[in-house]
Amino acid sequence: MDKFFLVSFLGMLITAHGVVGNMIYDQMVMLEELENLDIEEEKEVELSPIPSWTSERGSKVLVNVDSFGAFGDGVSDDTQAFRNAWKIACSTEKSVFLVPEGRRYLVNATRFNGPCSDRLVIQIDGTIIAPDEPKNWDPKFPRIWLEFSKLTGALFQGGGVIDGSGSKWWASSCKKNKTNPCRGAPTALTIDSSSAIKVTGLTIQNSQQMNFVIGRSDSVRVSGVQVSAPEDSPNTDGIHISESTNVVLQDCKIGTGDDCISIVNASSNIKMKRIYCGPGHGVSIGSLGKDNSTGLVTKVVLDTAFLKETTNGLRIKTWQGGSGYVRGVRFQNVMMEDVSNPIIIDQFYCDSPKACQNQGGSGYVRGVRFQNVMMEDVSNPIIIDQFYCDSPKACQNQTAAVKISQILYRNISGTTKSAEAMKFACSDTVPCSNIVLSNVNLEKKDGTVETYCNSAEGFGYGIVHPSADCLSSHDKEYIFINEEEKAEVADSSRVDIVNTEL
Ligand SMILES: *[C@@H]1O[C@H](CO)[C@@H](O)[C@H](O)[C@H]1NC(C)=O
Ligand SMILES: *[C@@H]1O[C@H](CO)[C@@H](O)[C@H](O)[C@H]1NC(C)=O
Ligand SMILES: *[C@@H]1O[C@H](CO)[C@@H](O)[C@H](O)[C@H]1NC(C)=O
Ligand SMILES: *[C@@H]1O[C@H](CO)[C@@H](O)[C@H](O)[C@H]1NC(C)=O
Ligand SMILES: *[C@@H]1O[C@H](CO)[C@@H](O)[C@H](O)[C@H]1NC(C)=O
Ligand SMILES: *[C@@H]1O[C@H](CO)[C@@H](O)[C@H](O)[C@H]1NC(C)=O
Repeated sequence: MDKFFLVSFLGMLITAHGVVGNMIYDQMVMLEELENLDIEEEKEVELSPIPSWTSERGSKVLVNVDSFGAFGDGVSDDTQAFRNAWKIACSTEKSVFLVPEGRRYLVNATRFNGPCSDRLVIQIDGTIIAPDEPKNWDPKFPRIWLEFSKLTGALFQGGGVIDGSGSKWWASSCKKNKTNPCRGAPTALTIDSSSAIKVTGLTIQNSQQMNFVIGRSDSVRVSGVQVSAPEDSPNTDGIHISESTNVVLQDCKIGTGDDCISIVNASSNIKMKRIYCGPGHGVSIGSLGKDNSTGLVTKVVLDTAFLKETTNGLRIKTWQGGSGYVRGVRFQNVMMEDVSNPIIIDQFYCDSPKACQNQGGSGYVRGVRFQNVMMEDVSNPIIIDQFYCDSPKACQNQTAAVKISQILYRNISGTTKSAEAMKFACSDTVPCSNIVLSNVNLEKKDGTVETYCNSAEGFGYGIVHPSADCLSSHDKEYIFINEEEKAEVADSSRVDIVNTEL
């Protein structure tokens, strides 16, 4: 269908503008590359075989924290009971580490280490709460509260709650009060260095900092998880994925004070399906490249999401000075309401209280597709901003930037609050190339809409409103794809976006 469409589109263009064959040819190459992003759509995210826990229910060994002396009164220290219960559960085959329903367990920062025996189930039906005083936090664990590591084939489930009691941590954050020192705070739930993990049904709330981190893991499937923290709680990312591969998040409802979902360094094959986000900062790739680090994120798909009252929608953010790349991203079937920056690529991300200096750096964002996005009453609907700066100090003007190319916006419609419906503010030294708009229709209720371009090249087809002629008003004869770029493009098309049946 797409192919047929492309062929007829080519025919139509050639008939209309026979002479500019070169340009048309290059546009076609470009379009095809972008279309090909989903050539292998049918392929599954490969998850290591996740064992079936339900089939042998009868033979489960229940390890109840209450049997190890936990009080579950929300006041007594149940840390030791949890640690002792874990030792037994972990070393026993087919065991269920049980946190029973209807009770509140106060537990200090703890590492629940594997490897464990086969078919471990962590059944959380009750509420686990963290001690709320940062001053008494165990200095051995500055960044974790409940961390599970080195597990293979484990299932986390239950209707229980993991509550970080974060309010004093938030108040002591330097984001809240500039006189506070900037320090990291614990993550409520961490799954680290694990594989073949399933997490279903839990609620994670009021974390000290990030709510749920999946780090250095492979084959993780998260479903029906809820995350909740106040809109003004600092750095409380909902689900944060780092150095992990083959992760599926589905049917998650997230409302928090930072990104609902953030995907950072060395993550690949991340699939998100049916996600609700709000309040929060949206769904982000990045930030990448802080403190001159390298960040690589490839093959990310978000399919079917509703974002409401968030500051951003779909965002790619990189710090200056970093290197690495973001490649092969598809955000589709997204509905947004009352969102400030629904679609944003921000190459100068900086949330440090000090002004961010120009730090050089390299890297690129390439092969990103935003499609079937409906927006209502949003500000800055489509934005690429290489001059972005939300630092309280004035930002210096930047010379280095991450290169942005092959970005397709297709079937994007709705209403905008800002007159500048599309803004492609690219750097003069590293222009954006191959920005493709197809069937974009953005209206403002009371007034006209416009497109701003600086050093941005690309083209539109189908309806494009407001007109994006400024993308092609460049002196250059055709959209440039030099030999080197052609090779790269060919290469990047092999980075297939994978899909999973959800
Ligand atoms: C838990 O932390 C408190 C301080 O907040 C401490 O007094 C207590 O000993 C810790 N419990 C364990 C089992 O380490
Ligand atoms: C910030 O912290 C300082 C020192 O703890 C305190 O005196 C001040 O009242 C705080 N400011 C706000 C706005 O909370
Ligand atoms: C990025 O990931 C790589 C590979 O896992 C790791 O070696 C490196 O330390 C990570 N960088 C940062 C800044 O976390
Ligand atoms: C990053 O690199 C730049 C240029 O080499 C250097 O000036 C800067 O201090 C580095 N920043 C950090 C945080 O290492
Ligand atoms: C365009 O996107 C909307 C959702 O925003 C969807 O309902 C519609 O089917 C899409 N149209 C096409 C042709 O894909
Ligand atoms: C930086 O450059 C942009 C684009 O040329 C320009 O709009 C902006 O005013 C400049 N800012 C400063 C502080 O020079």
